[in-house]
Amino acid sequence: MELKIDYSNCLSFLKEEDILSCAAASAFHLEAVLNRTAAGSEFLGWVTLPHVIEDQVGRIKEAAAKLRTQAEITVVIGIGGSYLGAKAIIHALENEFEYTGRYDRHRVLFAGQNISEDYLSNLSSFLKGKRFNLIVISKSGTTTEPAIAFRILRKQMEEQIGKDSAAKHIIAVTDAKRGALRMLSDREGYDSFIIPDDVGGRFSVFTPVGLLPVACAGININDLIDGAKSITGRTHNITHPATNPALIYSAVRNLLYRKGMSVEMIVNFEPSLHFVSEWWKQLFGESEGKQGKGIFPSSADMTTDLHSLGQYIQDGSRILFETIISIEKSHNDLRVPFDGNDFDKLNYIAGKRISEVNHKAEEGTLMAHTEGGVPNIRIILPQVSEQSLGRLLYFFEISCAVSGYELGVNPFDQPGVETYKKNMFTLLGKPGI
Ligand code: PA5
Repeated sequence: MELKIDYSNCLSFLKEEDILSCAAASAFHLEAVLNRTAAGSEFLGWVTLPHVIEDQVGRIKEAAAKLRTQAEITVVIGIGGSYLGAKAIIHALENEFEYTGRYDRHRVLFAGQNISEDYLSNLSSFLKGKRFNLIVISKSGTTTEPAIAFRILRKQMEEQIGKDSAAKHIIAVTDAKRGALRMLSDREGYDSFIIPDDVGGRFSVFTPVGLLPVACAGININDLIDGAKSITGRTHNITHPATNPALIYSAVRNLLYRKGMSVEMIVNFEPSLHFVSEWWKQLFGESEGKQGKGIFPSSADMTTDLHSLGQYIQDGSRILFETIISIEKSHNDLRVPFDGNDFDKLNYIAGKRISEVNHKAEEGTLMAHTEGGVPNIRIILPQVSEQSLGRLLYFFEISCAVSGYELGVNPFDQPGVETYKKNMFTLLGKPGI
Protein backbone atom coordinates (compact mmCIF):
# COMPACT_ATOMS: atom_id res chain seq x y z
CA MET A 1 0.00 0.00 0.00
CA GLU A 2 1.34 3.41 -0.94
CA LEU A 3 0.41 5.30 2.23
CA LYS A 4 -0.08 3.41 5.44
CA ILE A 5 -1.14 4.67 8.82
CA ASP A 6 -0.04 3.00 12.04
CA TYR A 7 -1.59 4.11 15.34
CA SER A 8 -0.44 1.16 17.44
CA ASN A 9 1.65 3.49 19.64
CA CYS A 10 -1.56 5.30 20.62
CA LEU A 11 -3.26 2.21 21.99
CA SER A 12 -1.98 2.62 25.53
CA PHE A 13 -3.63 6.09 25.49
CA LEU A 14 -6.81 5.43 23.47
CA LYS A 15 -9.14 2.48 22.99
CA GLU A 16 -9.19 1.10 19.46
CA GLU A 17 -12.99 0.91 19.52
CA ASP A 18 -13.14 4.65 20.31
CA ILE A 19 -10.86 5.41 17.35
CA LEU A 20 -13.00 3.35 15.01
CA SER A 21 -16.28 4.78 16.25
CA CYS A 22 -14.94 8.36 16.01
CA ALA A 23 -13.74 7.63 12.44
CA ALA A 24 -17.18 6.20 11.59
CA ALA A 25 -18.93 9.25 13.05
CA SER A 26 -16.61 11.56 11.06
CA ALA A 27 -17.73 9.95 7.81
CA PHE A 28 -20.64 12.38 8.13
CA HIS A 29 -18.17 15.32 7.95
CA LEU A 30 -16.37 13.74 5.02
CA GLU A 31 -19.64 13.41 3.18
CA ALA A 32 -20.28 17.11 3.78
CA VAL A 33 -16.83 17.91 2.34
CA LEU A 34 -17.37 15.77 -0.74
CA ASN A 35 -20.89 17.10 -1.32
CA ARG A 36 -19.85 20.67 -0.48
CA THR A 37 -22.62 21.12 2.07
CA ALA A 38 -20.75 22.18 5.23
CA ALA A 39 -19.56 25.57 6.56
CA GLY A 40 -17.06 27.18 4.18
CA SER A 41 -18.34 25.04 1.29
CA GLU A 42 -17.59 27.92 -1.12
CA PHE A 43 -13.88 27.05 -0.57
CA LEU A 44 -14.05 23.35 -1.39
CA GLY A 45 -12.83 23.59 -4.99
CA TRP A 46 -9.57 21.86 -3.97
CA VAL A 47 -11.38 18.55 -3.34
CA THR A 48 -11.66 17.72 -7.06
CA LEU A 49 -8.41 19.43 -8.12
CA PRO A 50 -6.32 16.28 -8.73
CA HIS A 51 -8.88 15.35 -11.39
CA VAL A 52 -9.81 18.74 -12.85
CA ILE A 53 -6.35 20.36 -12.94
CA GLU A 54 -5.20 17.92 -15.61
CA ASP A 55 -6.72 20.19 -18.29
CA GLN A 56 -4.20 22.88 -17.35
CA VAL A 57 -1.12 20.69 -17.04
CA GLY A 58 -0.10 21.14 -20.69
CA ARG A 59 -0.12 24.92 -20.44
CA ILE A 60 1.71 24.88 -17.10
CA LYS A 61 4.43 22.62 -18.51
CA GLU A 62 4.79 24.80 -21.63
CA ALA A 63 5.20 27.94 -19.53
CA ALA A 64 7.71 26.20 -17.26
CA ALA A 65 9.71 24.92 -20.25
CA LYS A 66 9.89 28.47 -21.63
CA LEU A 67 11.11 29.84 -18.30
CA ARG A 68 13.72 27.09 -18.01
CA THR A 69 15.03 27.82 -21.51
CA GLN A 70 15.18 31.59 -21.36
CA ALA A 71 16.98 32.00 -18.00
CA GLU A 72 19.10 30.08 -15.53
CA ILE A 73 17.12 31.10 -12.42
CA THR A 74 13.46 31.60 -11.54
CA VAL A 75 12.54 33.52 -8.41
CA VAL A 76 9.15 32.53 -7.03
CA ILE A 77 7.54 35.35 -5.05
CA GLY A 78 4.77 34.53 -2.57
CA ILE A 79 3.98 33.84 1.07
CA GLY A 80 1.85 31.42 3.11
CA GLY A 81 -0.33 29.31 0.86
CA SER A 82 1.20 31.06 -2.15
CA TYR A 83 4.66 29.75 -1.19
CA LEU A 84 4.76 26.71 1.05
CA GLY A 85 3.38 23.99 -1.25
CA ALA A 86 5.93 24.63 -4.01
CA LYS A 87 8.74 25.07 -1.50
CA ALA A 88 7.80 21.79 0.24
CA ILE A 89 7.79 19.73 -2.97
CA ILE A 90 10.92 21.26 -4.49
CA HIS A 91 12.89 20.95 -1.25
CA ALA A 92 11.74 17.34 -0.82
CA LEU A 93 12.91 16.32 -4.28
CA GLU A 94 16.01 18.39 -4.87
CA ASN A 95 19.59 17.57 -4.09
CA GLU A 96 20.33 20.52 -1.86
CA PHE A 97 24.06 20.41 -2.56
CA GLU A 98 23.68 20.67 -6.33
CA TYR A 99 21.91 23.17 -8.52
CA THR A 100 21.52 20.45 -11.10
CA GLY A 101 20.64 17.43 -9.05
CA ARG A 102 18.38 14.48 -9.72
CA TYR A 103 16.22 16.58 -12.05
CA ASP A 104 18.85 18.47 -14.04
CA ARG A 105 17.21 21.45 -12.54
CA HIS A 106 16.94 25.03 -13.40
CA ARG A 107 17.52 26.87 -10.15
CA VAL A 108 14.35 27.97 -8.33
CA LEU A 109 14.70 30.52 -5.53
CA PHE A 110 12.07 32.07 -3.27
CA ALA A 111 11.33 35.63 -2.17
CA GLY A 112 8.41 37.52 -0.65
CA GLN A 113 8.08 35.11 2.29
CA ASN A 114 9.62 37.61 4.73
CA ILE A 115 10.38 41.34 5.04
CA SER A 116 14.10 40.99 5.67
CA GLU A 117 16.21 43.75 4.16
CA ASP A 118 19.28 41.53 4.28
CA TYR A 119 17.55 38.57 2.57
CA LEU A 120 16.33 40.77 -0.28
CA SER A 121 19.64 42.64 -0.59
CA ASN A 122 21.61 39.38 -0.77
CA LEU A 123 19.20 37.93 -3.32
CA SER A 124 19.34 41.09 -5.39
CA SER A 125 23.17 41.08 -5.34
CA PHE A 126 23.16 37.41 -6.35
CA LEU A 127 20.88 38.18 -9.32
CA LYS A 128 23.00 41.10 -10.53
CA GLY A 129 24.10 40.48 -14.10
CA LYS A 130 22.21 37.15 -14.27
CA ARG A 131 19.24 36.33 -16.47
CA PHE A 132 16.29 35.43 -14.25
CA ASN A 133 12.50 35.01 -14.36
CA LEU A 134 9.90 36.00 -11.79
CA ILE A 135 6.80 33.99 -10.94
CA VAL A 136 4.75 36.25 -8.71
CA ILE A 137 1.96 34.51 -6.82
CA SER A 138 -0.71 36.32 -4.83
CA LYS A 139 -4.44 35.71 -4.78
CA SER A 140 -5.25 39.11 -3.31
CA GLY A 141 -2.41 40.87 -5.09
CA THR A 142 -1.96 43.18 -2.11
CA THR A 143 -0.02 41.08 0.42
CA THR A 144 2.79 43.28 1.75
CA GLU A 145 5.69 40.80 1.73
CA PRO A 146 5.41 39.60 -1.90
CA ALA A 147 4.42 43.09 -3.11
CA ILE A 148 7.68 44.56 -1.72
CA ALA A 149 9.82 41.74 -3.18
CA PHE A 150 8.10 42.02 -6.56
CA ARG A 151 8.55 45.78 -6.70
CA ILE A 152 12.30 45.46 -6.00
CA LEU A 153 13.06 42.48 -8.26
CA ARG A 154 10.90 43.71 -11.15
CA LYS A 155 12.70 47.07 -11.08
CA GLN A 156 16.06 45.28 -11.06
CA MET A 157 15.03 43.05 -13.95
CA GLU A 158 13.75 46.02 -16.00
CA GLU A 159 17.03 47.83 -15.41
CA GLN A 160 19.05 44.76 -16.39
CA ILE A 161 17.20 43.68 -19.55
CA GLY A 162 14.72 46.48 -20.38
CA LYS A 163 10.98 46.73 -19.73
CA ASP A 164 9.81 44.89 -22.87
CA SER A 165 12.07 41.91 -22.33
CA ALA A 166 11.26 41.87 -18.60
CA ALA A 167 7.56 41.45 -19.38
CA LYS A 168 8.43 38.15 -21.09
CA HIS A 169 10.27 36.95 -17.99
CA ILE A 170 7.40 37.54 -15.56
CA ILE A 171 4.41 35.26 -14.94
CA ALA A 172 1.63 36.24 -12.52
CA VAL A 173 -0.48 33.68 -10.69
CA THR A 174 -3.48 35.47 -9.25
CA ASP A 175 -7.24 35.95 -9.16
CA ALA A 176 -9.13 35.77 -12.48
CA LYS A 177 -10.60 39.27 -12.25
CA ARG A 178 -9.85 41.06 -9.00
CA GLY A 179 -6.85 42.57 -7.27
CA ALA A 180 -3.79 44.72 -7.89
CA LEU A 181 -1.70 41.92 -9.41
CA ARG A 182 -4.41 41.04 -11.92
CA MET A 183 -4.63 44.72 -12.97
CA LEU A 184 -0.85 45.08 -13.25
CA SER A 185 -0.48 41.82 -15.11
CA ASP A 186 -3.15 42.77 -17.66
CA ARG A 187 -1.68 46.25 -18.10
CA GLU A 188 1.90 45.03 -18.58
CA GLY A 189 0.94 42.01 -20.70
CA TYR A 190 2.42 39.35 -18.40
CA ASP A 191 1.54 35.74 -19.02
CA SER A 192 -0.74 34.67 -16.17
CA PHE A 193 -2.44 31.75 -14.44
CA ILE A 194 -5.59 31.82 -12.35
CA ILE A 195 -6.07 30.85 -8.70
CA PRO A 196 -9.65 29.54 -8.58
CA ASP A 197 -12.09 31.51 -6.39
CA ASP A 198 -13.11 28.39 -4.52
CA VAL A 199 -9.58 27.36 -3.46
CA GLY A 200 -7.98 29.02 -0.42
CA GLY A 201 -4.21 29.61 -0.25
CA ARG A 202 -3.31 26.69 2.00
CA PHE A 203 -5.26 24.26 -0.20
CA SER A 204 -3.79 25.55 -3.48
CA VAL A 205 -0.80 23.25 -3.99
CA PHE A 206 -2.50 21.39 -6.85
CA THR A 207 -3.27 24.62 -8.75
CA PRO A 208 -0.73 26.68 -10.76
CA VAL A 209 0.30 28.18 -7.37
CA GLY A 210 2.16 24.97 -6.56
CA LEU A 211 2.45 23.32 -9.95
CA LEU A 212 4.08 26.10 -12.00
CA PRO A 213 7.13 26.58 -9.70
CA VAL A 214 7.41 22.81 -9.26
CA ALA A 215 7.36 22.24 -13.05
CA CYS A 216 9.90 25.01 -13.38
CA ALA A 217 12.22 23.06 -11.08
CA GLY A 218 12.03 20.19 -13.59
CA ILE A 219 9.80 17.99 -11.44
CA ASN A 220 7.22 15.77 -13.12
CA ILE A 221 3.88 17.33 -12.16
CA ASN A 222 1.89 14.55 -13.85
CA ASP A 223 3.34 12.09 -11.32
CA LEU A 224 2.51 14.43 -8.47
CA ILE A 225 -1.10 14.73 -9.62
CA ASP A 226 -1.33 10.98 -10.30
CA GLY A 227 -0.19 10.40 -6.72
CA ALA A 228 -2.96 12.65 -5.37
CA LYS A 229 -5.55 11.03 -7.64
CA SER A 230 -4.49 7.56 -6.60
CA ILE A 231 -5.35 8.12 -2.95
CA THR A 232 -8.82 9.60 -3.50
CA GLY A 233 -10.33 6.10 -3.61
CA ARG A 234 -9.26 5.66 0.02
CA THR A 235 -9.64 9.21 1.36
CA HIS A 236 -13.18 9.44 -0.08
CA ASN A 237 -14.33 6.11 1.31
CA ILE A 238 -17.34 6.76 3.52
CA THR A 239 -18.65 3.21 3.65
CA HIS A 240 -15.56 1.64 5.28
CA PRO A 241 -14.21 4.32 7.65
CA ALA A 242 -11.69 1.92 9.21
CA THR A 243 -9.87 1.69 5.87
CA ASN A 244 -9.91 5.44 5.25
CA PRO A 245 -6.56 6.90 6.45
CA ALA A 246 -7.92 10.46 6.59
CA LEU A 247 -10.82 9.45 8.86
CA ILE A 248 -8.48 7.43 11.09
CA TYR A 249 -5.88 10.21 11.34
CA SER A 250 -8.57 12.81 12.09
CA ALA A 251 -10.15 10.55 14.72
CA VAL A 252 -6.87 9.78 16.53
CA ARG A 253 -5.72 13.41 16.70
CA ASN A 254 -9.12 14.66 17.91
CA LEU A 255 -9.35 11.96 20.58
CA LEU A 256 -5.83 12.76 21.81
CA TYR A 257 -6.71 16.45 21.88
CA ARG A 258 -9.73 15.70 24.04
CA LYS A 259 -7.36 13.94 26.45
CA GLY A 260 -5.41 17.19 26.88
CA MET A 261 -2.73 16.63 24.25
CA SER A 262 -2.98 20.02 22.65
CA VAL A 263 0.33 20.04 20.73
CA GLU A 264 0.95 17.88 17.68
CA MET A 265 4.54 17.61 16.52
CA ILE A 266 5.07 16.52 12.93
CA VAL A 267 8.32 14.62 12.83
CA ASN A 268 10.54 13.47 9.98
CA PHE A 269 13.78 11.51 9.87
CA GLU A 270 14.61 12.89 6.40
CA PRO A 271 15.76 16.52 6.22
CA SER A 272 14.26 16.78 2.73
CA LEU A 273 10.83 16.80 4.43
CA HIS A 274 11.50 19.93 6.49
CA PHE A 275 9.27 22.13 4.35
CA VAL A 276 6.54 19.50 4.12
CA SER A 277 6.29 20.08 7.88
CA GLU A 278 6.15 23.84 7.30
CA TRP A 279 3.36 23.37 4.75
CA TRP A 280 1.51 21.04 7.16
CA LYS A 281 1.80 23.58 10.01
CA GLN A 282 0.09 26.25 7.91
CA LEU A 283 -2.58 23.83 6.70
CA PHE A 284 -3.58 22.68 10.17
CA GLY A 285 -2.74 25.85 12.11
CA GLU A 286 -4.76 28.21 9.92
CA SER A 287 -7.58 25.74 9.51
CA GLU A 288 -8.09 24.70 13.13
CA GLY A 289 -6.70 27.38 15.44
CA LYS A 290 -9.77 29.50 16.09
CA GLN A 291 -12.50 30.24 18.64
CA GLY A 292 -10.06 29.44 21.46
CA LYS A 293 -9.66 25.88 20.14
CA GLY A 294 -7.31 23.76 18.06
CA ILE A 295 -4.25 21.56 18.28
CA PHE A 296 -1.05 23.62 18.10
CA PRO A 297 0.99 22.35 15.12
CA SER A 298 4.72 22.14 15.69
CA SER A 299 7.54 20.26 13.98
CA ALA A 300 10.85 18.52 14.51
CA ASP A 301 13.56 17.28 12.15
CA MET A 302 15.12 14.11 13.52
CA THR A 303 17.56 13.04 14.54
CA THR A 304 18.81 16.66 14.59
CA ASP A 305 16.17 17.83 17.07
CA LEU A 306 16.65 14.85 19.38
CA HIS A 307 19.73 16.80 20.42
CA SER A 308 17.68 19.92 21.18
CA LEU A 309 13.99 19.08 21.74
CA GLY A 310 14.57 15.45 22.73
CA GLN A 311 14.71 16.18 26.45
CA TYR A 312 11.40 18.09 26.41
CA ILE A 313 9.61 15.50 24.31
CA GLN A 314 10.77 12.67 26.58
CA ASP A 315 10.28 14.37 29.90
CA GLY A 316 8.58 17.78 29.72
CA SER A 317 4.89 18.78 30.02
CA ARG A 318 2.72 15.89 28.85
CA ILE A 319 0.77 17.89 26.27
CA LEU A 320 2.37 16.41 23.16
CA PHE A 321 1.70 13.77 20.58
CA GLU A 322 3.75 13.10 17.48
CA THR A 323 2.90 12.35 13.86
CA ILE A 324 5.82 10.75 12.09
CA ILE A 325 6.27 10.83 8.33
CA SER A 326 8.14 7.57 8.05
CA ILE A 327 10.04 6.78 4.84
CA GLU A 328 10.74 3.12 4.07
CA LYS A 329 13.45 3.40 1.41
CA SER A 330 16.12 5.95 0.60
CA HIS A 331 17.29 6.62 -2.96
CA ASN A 332 20.96 5.81 -2.37
CA ASP A 333 23.02 3.01 -0.84
CA LEU A 334 25.65 4.30 1.56
CA ARG A 335 27.21 2.14 4.26
CA VAL A 336 29.18 2.73 7.43
CA PRO A 337 32.83 1.99 6.55
CA PHE A 338 35.03 -0.41 8.57
CA ASP A 339 37.94 1.26 10.37
CA GLY A 340 40.88 -0.83 11.64
CA ASN A 341 41.47 1.48 14.63
CA ASP A 342 37.80 1.73 15.64
CA PHE A 343 38.53 4.76 17.85
CA ASP A 344 34.90 5.87 17.49
CA LYS A 345 33.63 2.34 18.36
CA LEU A 346 31.47 2.21 15.26
CA ASN A 347 32.72 -1.10 13.88
CA TYR A 348 29.71 -2.91 15.36
CA ILE A 349 27.63 -1.26 12.62
CA ALA A 350 30.30 -1.36 9.88
CA GLY A 351 28.75 -2.47 6.60
CA LYS A 352 25.24 -1.45 7.60
CA ARG A 353 23.34 1.00 5.44
CA ILE A 354 22.92 4.49 6.89
CA SER A 355 19.15 4.12 6.31
CA GLU A 356 19.14 1.04 8.56
CA VAL A 357 20.82 3.02 11.34
CA ASN A 358 18.29 5.83 10.78
CA HIS A 359 15.36 3.38 10.94
CA LYS A 360 16.65 1.96 14.22
CA ALA A 361 16.99 5.51 15.55
CA GLU A 362 13.36 6.11 14.56
CA GLU A 363 12.16 2.87 16.14
CA GLY A 364 14.10 3.49 19.35
CA THR A 365 12.88 7.09 19.57
CA LEU A 366 9.22 6.17 19.13
CA MET A 367 9.47 3.42 21.76
CA ALA A 368 11.08 5.86 24.20
CA HIS A 369 8.54 8.60 23.55
CA THR A 370 5.58 6.25 23.86
CA GLU A 371 6.95 4.99 27.19
CA GLY A 372 7.49 8.62 28.24
CA GLY A 373 3.80 9.45 27.70
CA VAL A 374 3.95 10.82 24.14
CA PRO A 375 1.78 8.77 21.77
CA ASN A 376 2.54 8.77 18.08
CA ILE A 377 0.89 8.12 14.74
CA ARG A 378 3.08 6.89 11.88
CA ILE A 379 2.28 7.82 8.31
CA ILE A 380 4.38 5.46 6.23
CA LEU A 381 5.46 6.16 2.65
CA PRO A 382 7.60 3.82 0.54
CA GLN A 383 9.96 6.59 -0.65
CA VAL A 384 10.15 10.35 -1.13
CA SER A 385 8.89 10.72 -4.71
CA GLU A 386 6.48 12.84 -6.75
CA GLN A 387 3.78 10.19 -6.42
CA SER A 388 4.14 9.73 -2.67
CA LEU A 389 4.21 13.50 -2.07
CA GLY A 390 1.06 13.91 -4.15
CA ARG A 391 -0.64 11.26 -2.03
CA LEU A 392 0.64 12.67 1.26
CA LEU A 393 -0.36 16.29 0.64
CA TYR A 394 -3.81 15.39 -0.61
CA PHE A 395 -4.32 12.99 2.30
CA PHE A 396 -3.45 15.82 4.72
CA GLU A 397 -5.87 18.21 2.99
CA ILE A 398 -8.82 15.83 3.35
CA SER A 399 -7.78 14.94 6.92
CA CYS A 400 -7.59 18.61 7.82
CA ALA A 401 -11.06 19.40 6.48
CA VAL A 402 -12.63 16.45 8.33
CA SER A 403 -10.64 17.14 11.48
CA GLY A 404 -11.65 20.81 11.53
CA TYR A 405 -15.33 19.90 11.34
CA GLU A 406 -14.81 17.25 14.02
CA LEU A 407 -13.30 19.98 16.20
CA GLY A 408 -16.32 22.21 15.54
CA VAL A 409 -14.71 25.01 13.51
CA ASN A 410 -14.93 26.20 9.91
CA PRO A 411 -11.58 24.98 8.51
CA PHE A 412 -11.70 27.33 5.52
CA ASP A 413 -11.56 30.80 7.04
CA GLN A 414 -8.69 32.61 8.80
CA PRO A 415 -10.12 35.67 10.57
CA GLY A 416 -7.16 35.80 12.99
CA VAL A 417 -4.48 36.61 10.41
CA GLU A 418 -5.73 40.17 9.83
CA THR A 419 -4.90 41.55 13.30
CA TYR A 420 -1.13 41.86 12.87
CA LYS A 421 -1.61 43.41 9.44
CA LYS A 422 -3.94 46.08 10.84
CA ASN A 423 -1.39 47.01 13.52
CA MET A 424 1.50 47.01 11.04
CA PHE A 425 -0.40 49.26 8.59
CA THR A 426 -1.33 51.68 11.40
CA LEU A 427 2.30 51.81 12.58
CA LEU A 428 3.49 52.40 9.00
CA GLY A 429 0.90 55.15 8.47
CA LYS A 430 -0.94 53.45 5.58
CA PRO A 431 -3.59 55.85 4.25
CA GLY A 432 -7.20 54.93 5.00
CA ILE A 433 -6.45 52.70 8.02
O1 PA5 B 1 -3.71 30.40 3.21
C1 PA5 B 1 -3.87 31.60 3.07
O2 PA5 B 1 -4.95 32.08 2.74
C2 PA5 B 1 -2.73 32.56 3.31
O3 PA5 B 1 -1.61 31.92 3.78
C3 PA5 B 1 -2.36 33.24 2.02
O4 PA5 B 1 -2.04 32.26 1.06
C4 PA5 B 1 -1.22 34.20 2.19
O5 PA5 B 1 -1.54 35.15 3.16
C5 PA5 B 1 -0.89 34.89 0.88
O6 PA5 B 1 -2.00 35.56 0.38
P1 PA5 B 1 -2.06 36.05 -1.11
O7 PA5 B 1 -1.99 34.87 -1.98
O8 PA5 B 1 -3.36 36.79 -1.23
O9 PA5 B 1 -0.88 36.96 -1.30
